[in-house]
Amino acid sequence: MLRFGVVGTGRISDWVLKGAAQDSRIAVTAVCSRTSEAAKAFIDRNPLAKDAKIYTSVDEMVLDPEVDAIYVGTPNQTHCEYTLKALNAGKHVLCEKPLALNAAEGRRMIEAAKASGCLLMEAMVSTLNPNFRALADRIATIAPVRQYSSYFCQYSSKYEALKRGEVATSFKPGTAGALRDVGVYTLYPMVALFGKPSRIQANIQTITTPEGISDVQGSACLGYDGMDAVLAWSKTYDSFQPTEIAGEKGNLILDEIHIARKAEIVPHAAPTSGQGPKPGRTLVCEGLPFNEYYYEFKEFADLIEKGLKESSWNSHQTSLSVLEIIDELLD
Ligand SMILES: NC(=O)c1ccc[n+]([C@@H]2O[C@H](COP(=O)([O-])OP(=O)(O)OC[C@H]3O[C@@H](n4cnc5c(N)ncnc54)[C@H](OP(=O)(O)O)[C@@H]3O)[C@@H](O)[C@H]2O)c1
Repeated sequence: MLRFGVVGTGRISDWVLKGAAQDSRIAVTAVCSRTSEAAKAFIDRNPLAKDAKIYTSVDEMVLDPEVDAIYVGTPNQTHCEYTLKALNAGKHVLCEKPLALNAAEGRRMIEAAKASGCLLMEAMVSTLNPNFRALADRIATIAPVRQYSSYFCQYSSKYEALKRGEVATSFKPGTAGALRDVGVYTLYPMVALFGKPSRIQANIQTITTPEGISDVQGSACLGYDGMDAVLAWSKTYDSFQPTEIAGEKGNLILDEIHIARKAEIVPHAAPTSGQGPKPGRTLVCEGLPFNEYYYEFKEFADLIEKGLKESSWNSHQTSLSVLEIIDELLD
């Protein structure tokens, strides 16, 4: 069994444990919260954690010999600190997105992982989703790729309160905001597929709050040799645009980038001057056989079984390049 200690008892830890519960190799043997009451309530509502020990200190939990790995499900400004504590104690780490607040922190975490010989992986669901992977496998069929476009625009339930000056964690200036919260989902798959772009142009919209300036929406054009990328992210409006990889020989389309449930391919048809029939979409795959968060635990457990220290999909370099782009966009 791979025995996890969970840090943080918020909604994301509840969500991911439903996925973890579908992999019979995963156990939860410890839960760490700022209060033992919250840890107890979390254990009561999560059957996978029913036998977990309660900790109110990460320092103590990482010394538990019955914990092999730590899941970090706490706000972004804590990721680096908790990950370093775990790695330095010889525990593997699955850390929520974004891996860190900035690239400097990300580098420290990756160096600590290499020094410890432990696995460190960002819990980025999008790139481990089988529908995304099915499209990624077909990129050669539409090559050369000319454009990647991706959108994650979702009117936030906390936005009205933000306008009144109440700042939720996901809008905290300097630690969260739209780019780190949702924009990262458009960036990460792009970097995983195509690497780091050589040129970046962006518009970032902000709101001044009593706690400082919070970014609430943005868009970016990113340049590669021979292709470009167009991204938009927002917590101020909804968008129903799919994510698309456009190539000279066809198009690959995902219904949503965060958690893709449908992947389609459109082979390039003969040029029609706009009058002929539109080319039809062919379904590649639809639906998810497992809970959407199962796949990150499966990847993590597979890597541990193989003795690997890094995921090839959610690699250290991809996490670091994404943080470098975030640094540049928010500069
Ligand atoms: N993968 C996804 O789909 C997804 C979705 C949403 C969020 N996320 C990521 O998950 C992380 C948490 O986001 P969230 O919206 O769930 O945040 P949150 O609700 O504010 O915090 C999650 C939990 O962390 C603990 N916590 C809160 N503030 C803390 C602090 N200052 N120091 C230490 N612990 C603190 C609390 O648990 P205790 O009371 O038990 O200490 C809280 O319930 C973020 O990195 C976010 O980007 C991922």
